[in-house]
Amino acid sequence: MEVNVSAESFESMVPGDFQEKFKKNHDIIFYRRQRDKAVSQYFASLETLVLTDRGASLELCERDSQDRLCLQIQATQSGTVRVSIDELQPLKPRYHVSDVLVRDLRYEPLRVDWKREDCVCLTWGLGQYKLLVSCSPFKLEICCDGEEIVTLNPENKLYFETLQDPARSSSDSNQEDEDRCGLWKETFRQFEDIKANGPSSVGMDLRLHGFNHTYGLPEHADTLVLKDTSVTEAYRLYNLDVFGYDVNSRLGLYGSVPFLLAHKLERTAGVFWLNASETLVDVKYNPEPNEDEDEPPGKKSKILPQTDVRWISESGTIDCFILLGPTAAQVFSQYAQLTGYQALPPLFSLGYHQCRWNYEDEADVKAVDAGFDLHGIPYDVIWLDIEHTNGKRYFTWDSELFPNPTELQHHLQKKNRKLVVISDPHIKIDPDWPLYCEAKEGGHFVKNREGAVYEGTCWPGESCYLDFSSSKTRSWYARQFSLSKYEGSTESLFVWNDMNEPSVFNGPEQTMPKDAVHHGGWEHRELHNLYGFYQHMATFDGLLTRSGGTERPFTLTRSFFAGSQRLGAIWTGDNVATWEYLKISIPMLLSLSLTGIQFCGADVGGFVQDPDPELLVRWYQAGALQPFFRGHSAKMTKRREPWLFGDDVTSVIRSAVQDRYCLLPYWYTLFHQAHTSALPPIRPLWVEFPSDTSTFAVENQYMIGKHDQIC
Ligand code: NOJ
Repeated sequence: MEVNVSAESFESMVPGDFQEKFKKNHDIIFYRRQRDKAVSQYFASLETLVLTDRGASLELCERDSQDRLCLQIQATQSGTVRVSIDELQPLKPRYHVSDVLVRDLRYEPLRVDWKREDCVCLTWGLGQYKLLVSCSPFKLEICCDGEEIVTLNPENKLYFETLQDPARSSSDSNQEDEDRCGLWKETFRQFEDIKANGPSSVGMDLRLHGFNHTYGLPEHADTLVLKDTSVTEAYRLYNLDVFGYDVNSRLGLYGSVPFLLAHKLERTAGVFWLNASETLVDVKYNPEPNEDEDEPPGKKSKILPQTDVRWISESGTIDCFILLGPTAAQVFSQYAQLTGYQALPPLFSLGYHQCRWNYEDEADVKAVDAGFDLHGIPYDVIWLDIEHTNGKRYFTWDSELFPNPTELQHHLQKKNRKLVVISDPHIKIDPDWPLYCEAKEGGHFVKNREGAVYEGTCWPGESCYLDFSSSKTRSWYARQFSLSKYEGSTESLFVWNDMNEPSVFNGPEQTMPKDAVHHGGWEHRELHNLYGFYQHMATFDGLLTRSGGTERPFTLTRSFFAGSQRLGAIWTGDNVATWEYLKISIPMLLSLSLTGIQFCGADVGGFVQDPDPELLVRWYQAGALQPFFRGHSAKMTKRREPWLFGDDVTSVIRSAVQDRYCLLPYWYTLFHQAHTSALPPIRPLWVEFPSDTSTFAVENQYMIGKHDQIC
């Protein structure tokens, strides 16, 4: 059965309408497989220990299966430990994420501090860090100045499905059993997923000692402090297009950053799990925060808090970074040394942005632009959504509605204002469109499992999807933004990437099938969470190259991954015009900010449905204090430019936007700090007041900059 969601049917969609199309934890077979397995029995063989000036390596072996893995341990001077595990002799190479880590890190030589028959203690630097490798069962304990901070594999949940030969595996075991376990094939609703490599999931647990507050792991519409998932769904990291997403949910939204922070008195730490396949994270607090609050004052609780975190990914390898802080500022800096610093936004992009799906035509754009002047409301950027194109062919203009785009941009540019246009990753199948033909001939599209070009449905109807994982395709795409290629574009045009999870209306969970095939023969499942990151990268490069490398680009993306901060801004997608979405925007943006994605915002006013004037006003007041400040509304909503609700409303919105502009130098300074030292412009209170436990769970207040910073 084919389900076709057309662009037209989108207009009648109600938020929450489509929830049953997304998987729940129990539908995710690799997750169930790992959760159902009792424990593994890995032991480390010390005879295989090799120390080099870049770290240590040794072999792990599983007692029952005799599977052998290669463990690598590396440490940086700045206080990060990297633990990587891969198969010792894989049948074929497994996918390693490239392009996310900024450069080859400088690792410290490790040395043996002491050694016994069943364990070895490694150290580095000045000797304040120690890493204890226990052999049987295998465990890693990381200590700093005698304090145990993190233990890896404390509960023996290390899990690694080594690649199997499909021919051998089907003759060895019962085909029906395998199908049932979803090892080589699985079905969700009407969608079949054929796994070219069979089962390849990986997982590991770790214990954070003394911590009972954890944060991060965006993107979810949920609380700032991560929930204990023994009673709720696990945090799912799988980039999905979820129109009008539910609040208080662990369903994966548009982007993923597999980075978790933990905080306690005296220490902040981080765990970065570098894997781009579908990932689930379970968090278990022991005891639950506040559980021991009944203790008489002054009496120390006997139960030492600790948090267990379990990471489970569908494929790839284990590549886990432990960031030892000890301060939050050091964790931000350690993380930025791995994945990069926030790009410094061009000043204009920190002002107010006016967007709508859609501003109808050139006259409409000019009228809205004039409206801001007439009502004395400052703004810097006006946006065009998909309807500005010729039939949703990106890089083109609808010649009736936008016959003179260059003149329009000059008109805006005279007042120093910019135009942003949308560019999605799907390309309309149209043999008469040169860009489609060029992409097809150049081999720039993702393939299906049979080797033909993959076709899916999105706004233009039947479409193909650019394979941004290929550097050749990224360069080709980047060239499309050059002024000579992109007709009707000028230097004051900037770009917005949307639908890049990627969104496929007739795909499983409204995205690309996992068995689609990318450049190099990699299945989509391996790199799903990187798709949007790579499109954003190509767009950023295109705009940078357009200016001969001299102008900082402005690019907005809906889908993202760790490292996307180097490329521009993100927003939280299709929120709804209700108070609860205004409220959740704060923890959502704080979680993003903590995990490096610092130029972030939520659609002011709510994208879906019509806000009443009070909600609109409050949203402007809140949005003016958030990093990326853009009003946006869906096609089926009523117009809501700030002057349409009477003088009182106009005047309060004007004040909120003016306040933003008064603080613009402060925002710019904060972003310069983010760019150079990784401090997030907006921060949870605990970052500034790390020893005040009453701040640890606060999510309805936050800091813009430092507490004693005067603007
Ligand atoms: C979905 C995006 O989230 C929204 O902001 C945009 O207006 C529509 N796509 C149409 O392009």
